[in-house]
Parts: sequence; C-alpha cells; structure tokens
Amino acid sequence: MNQLTRLFGLIALLIGGIVIIGFVMYGIRLKKPVNIFDALEDDHSEIRELINGTYDDRERFSELKALLDVHHQLEEQIPFEVLKAEANLVKDTLEAIEEHHVIELLLGELANLPTEDDRWLAKFSVLQEFTEHHLEEEEERLFPESRKILSEGQMGDMGMRFKEEKARLLKQY
Ligand SMILES: [Fe+2]
Ligand SMILES: [Fe+2]
Repeated sequence: MNQLTRLFGLIALLIGGIVIIGFVMYGIRLKKPVNIFDALEDDHSEIRELINGTYDDRERFSELKALLDVHHQLEEQIPFEVLKAEANLVKDTLEAIEEHHVIELLLGELANLPTEDDRWLAKFSVLQEFTEHHLEEEEERLFPESRKILSEGQMGDMGMRFKEEKARLLKQY
C-alpha cells in the first residue's frame, strides 16, 4: 500500500512536471519575436484561403475585407514606412501602396453591392486576380529584397508590433 501510494505520488509529480514544462514552452513561443515578413506571409496564406472560397458568401467576404484592411494598414505603417526610405526599394514600395488603394476601392464597392447584382461576381473576380498578383509581387520581389536590407532585430521588433496591432485592430471589426 505504501509503495503504491509512493508510485502514485511519483506519477502525479511527473505529470505536474510535464504540465509546467508545457506552459513554460508555450510562454516562450508566445514571446519569441516573429520576423515581420514571416508574419505577413502567414497573413497572405489566410487571405488566399478566404479569397478563393468567398464568392457570394457575405460573412466570408466581411472576414476577408477586415483582414485585408488591417493587413494593408499595418504593412504601410510598419515595414513600408522604413522601406520607402531605401533607394532601391522605394519604387516597389510605392507601387505596393497604390495597389492597396485599388484593392481597397474594390472592397468598398463590393461591400455596398448586393451579391445578387450581376456585377458582383465580375468585380469579385477582378479583386481576386489583382490581389493574387499583389501578394505574389510582395513575396517574390519586395519581401526578399527587404529581408537583405533590414537586421534580424528590426524585423523581429516589427513582427511583434504587427502581431499586437493586428489583434487590437481586428477587435474593432
Ligand atoms: Fe500589400
Ligand atoms: Fe501583403
């Protein structure tokens, strides 16, 4: 009996230890700086997933619009603000900002158009193609070039700021 109690105690101690280690690891993961371009590319995957399954689903469209609005706002406020000052990146950065403007125009028009309207699908298809082109340009040109210029510390700080601001802004939608 005594041995059995000791065995149970040991097992309980072991489980407790594993749980504590789990919490510590989770905490470390949460605090680990995220590279801004990794965070933005994660957002791109989310955008692609939503944009390829939305069509006339209003709820999904609202989710897509919120994600794109916040993504564009933070891209412009955090990394682009620094990239605009880089001589060899200024052209691509300004072009990306203009593309955000076109995507936002389309999103605004779609938000005010009934899905039964014949123009809905036409407009949504343009949004889909244009957004896909924009994401590809960022992933293939702007982000790789920016990664070469910014330091790990800078990209980590920007990633942390992006994560915090994204959570705050999405709550407002
Ligand atoms: Fe963008
Ligand atoms: Fe982006």
